[in-house]
Amino acid sequence: MSTLVSNIGLLVTHDGPERSDAALVIDAGRVAWVGASKHAPAADDLVDAAGGCVIPGFVDSHSHLVFAGDRADEFEARMAGTRYQAGGIRRTVRLTRDATDEQLLANATRLVAEMCAQGTTTVEIKTGYGLTVDDEARSARLASTLTEEVTFLGAHVVPEGIGRETYLDLVTGPMLSACAPFAKWIDVFCDRGAFDVDEARRVILAGQAAGLGARMHGAQLAPSGAVRLAVDLGAASVDHCTHLEQRDIDALAGADTVATLLPGVEFSTRSPYPDARRLVDAGATVALASDCNPGSSFTTSMPFVVALAVREMGLTAAEALWAATAGGARALRRDDVGHLRIGAQADLIVLDAPSYVHLAYRPGVPLVKRVISSQSST
Ligand code: NIG
Ligand code: FE
Repeated sequence: MSTLVSNIGLLVTHDGPERSDAALVIDAGRVAWVGASKHAPAADDLVDAAGGCVIPGFVDSHSHLVFAGDRADEFEARMAGTRYQAGGIRRTVRLTRDATDEQLLANATRLVAEMCAQGTTTVEIKTGYGLTVDDEARSARLASTLTEEVTFLGAHVVPEGIGRETYLDLVTGPMLSACAPFAKWIDVFCDRGAFDVDEARRVILAGQAAGLGARMHGAQLAPSGAVRLAVDLGAASVDHCTHLEQRDIDALAGADTVATLLPGVEFSTRSPYPDARRLVDAGATVALASDCNPGSSFTTSMPFVVALAVREMGLTAAEALWAATAGGARALRRDDVGHLRIGAQADLIVLDAPSYVHLAYRPGVPLVKRVISSQSST
């Protein structure tokens, strides 16, 4: 089964320069041909892009979708001046533990559908609102029905009613063993009010020993050694990167560890945005993701994230688009998504706009006209 996407006003593949008046052919779920409209071969099926811009599907490399309830009251309090605190996570933990599998899966499925409608074709999903062996294993299992990019985040915060050391023994022992069969990644929230650098090292090393890849939450609330630890341990990405010191930027420059920025958090916690320009200029690889979660960033919209990165963080629209697609793929160590080279997964977006610049230029407008997704990774 082949599909010709014709009449593309502007095509971005991340493989060579942007093309105008282009066409693209999909065969068996892969990009099979890219070229000028007038040379397009015939195919079984036709999608008319109507002169719109076509871009790779967004790769949202950081989300927390397995939870119950919301925390709109905390958002309102923050808008009135209260500071965000990591401890709010425990409220969602209580509600998540009380929810049934069906409720949790229905909520996560609805959020994935929201993402998809806004152009996300690959999504990573973390656990982290269960924080018992059974509740974390259940979160990982439910997440694994929605994506292959599942991250075990038992080390989100220390839950109520258990000592720190006992909890870390659990996270690095039985909880890890129960979650690893469903997960590809291990993560730890290394920040003020969560875990320190030594604790984070212990968690990541245990996860790596169990065969999981590493990713970290670091520098969301305060500077620490989290960013350098992530680079030292060969993490695929270190996420938030808001409070950076020069030595963190030096460590990220040219590293394999991607600096993932989550500006929905700064929006929703009324905090200063990270300086993406400084990271790119230093030679770091930058990704953009939603961090969709009920506490610090309850958005599923990658177009919104791109708009924030352009308006508030010093990226050009082209850089922001790259970070939200190819950058996310790097953060997940995937080379089959995030671009439209021949052979890539045929995950793409047809915009109701002549250029991807409109994602930032027309914020809040539903410009994603059509999403073509090769498979069920979202
Ligand atoms: O990525 N930083 C840690 N975890 C989430 C927030 C979770 C919450 O507040 O519920 C985040 O921002
Ligand atoms: Fe997060």
